[in-house]
Amino acid sequence: MPTPLSDTLPPPAPAAVAASSAVERAGALIRAGRLVAFPTETVYGLGGDATSDAATAAIFAAKGRPHFNPLIVHVADLAAAQALVILDARAVRLAARFWPGPLTLVLPRRADCPASLLCSAGLDSLAVRVPAHPLALALLGSAGRPIAAPSANRAGRVSPTTPAHVLDELADRVDMILDGGACAVGVESTVLDLTGPQALLLRPGGLAREAIEAEIGPVALPSPVPTAEEDDAPRLSPGLLSSHYAPAIPVRLNAREPRSGEAFLGFGAPGPGIRAPDLQLSVGGDTTEAATHLFASLRALDRPPFTGIAVMPIPESGLGAAINDRLRRAAAPRPVPS
Ligand code: TXA
Ligand code: MG
Repeated sequence: MPTPLSDTLPPPAPAAVAASSAVERAGALIRAGRLVAFPTETVYGLGGDATSDAATAAIFAAKGRPHFNPLIVHVADLAAAQALVILDARAVRLAARFWPGPLTLVLPRRADCPASLLCSAGLDSLAVRVPAHPLALALLGSAGRPIAAPSANRAGRVSPTTPAHVLDELADRVDMILDGGACAVGVESTVLDLTGPQALLLRPGGLAREAIEAEIGPVALPSPVPTAEEDDAPRLSPGLLSSHYAPAIPVRLNAREPRSGEAFLGFGAPGPGIRAPDLQLSVGGDTTEAATHLFASLRALDRPPFTGIAVMPIPESGLGAAINDRLRRAAAPRPVPS
């Protein structure tokens, strides 16, 4: 699990340095309304005090994130979640089974919910989860309050799974990075909407749909990735823009072999006579292993001399659904810059 703590960035302003350890200092920064990137088992998060409008607004600003896209609020345990949202029997059952872990529940806000309304981006619901990484839990304990944290990347870009990725994305926009090494799961949490009678999978992620259905029965699948033209239409999960998780160069899916200039990202053995992949998601064809390598591989191949990334086919089972979801978005038509 995590490598030893280290401070990747220079110390923050003296007033914020109240404690000796990195986690305590990070907690003090959160309480002071500053932003701290921290590891979770899925990807690195860009954390701020969820109860502070100013801190939450600073998260949107640092990422360049559209304000209609709500944030996940991270809490230490079920009791802390119950202070924010109303959990029905399904939610309590899933929380008991899968928290801490890569499952985010979208639930009705309590009337006295202390989380900033900005976290909900105008919706009546709030997304909550208990992360499984020991440093994330230590930070929540040290901060003593819920922490709003989207993935620690600029909006529309690939999520970071190492501290170096966070530095690439947000170096000058974050007050501190807690170093927990590479993330174990590698794709973001599964987002499940439980605000209505039918559970709805808003984002396939680090917890397989099959595992959720074993606890609460059928979960409705997300609608297909919207086309670029539909991006202005209202949607249930405002984060589900068609082009997302995008490297700078084009991504081509279900590629049996690379074309001229393309990097070749493997999953299992390529066909006879096909050149070896430049990087492998999983030699043995394991979707859980592939998830851990996905974002780092896209980053590593997103550079000259490559002019595109060709990805071998990946099955939909297990974490394959989350991987293919991210890859489809990476391959989707890009918005025309304005
Ligand atoms: O694994 C993860 O979930 C990571 C780590 C840091 O916890 N966080 C993450 O956050 O991926 P973000 O902001 O990159 O993605 C959150 C997703 C977005 O698609 C957003 O639209 C959706 O969750 N979401 C958040 N609150 C919601 C709400 N109230 N209703 C519907 N969707 C919501
Ligand atoms: Mg994100």
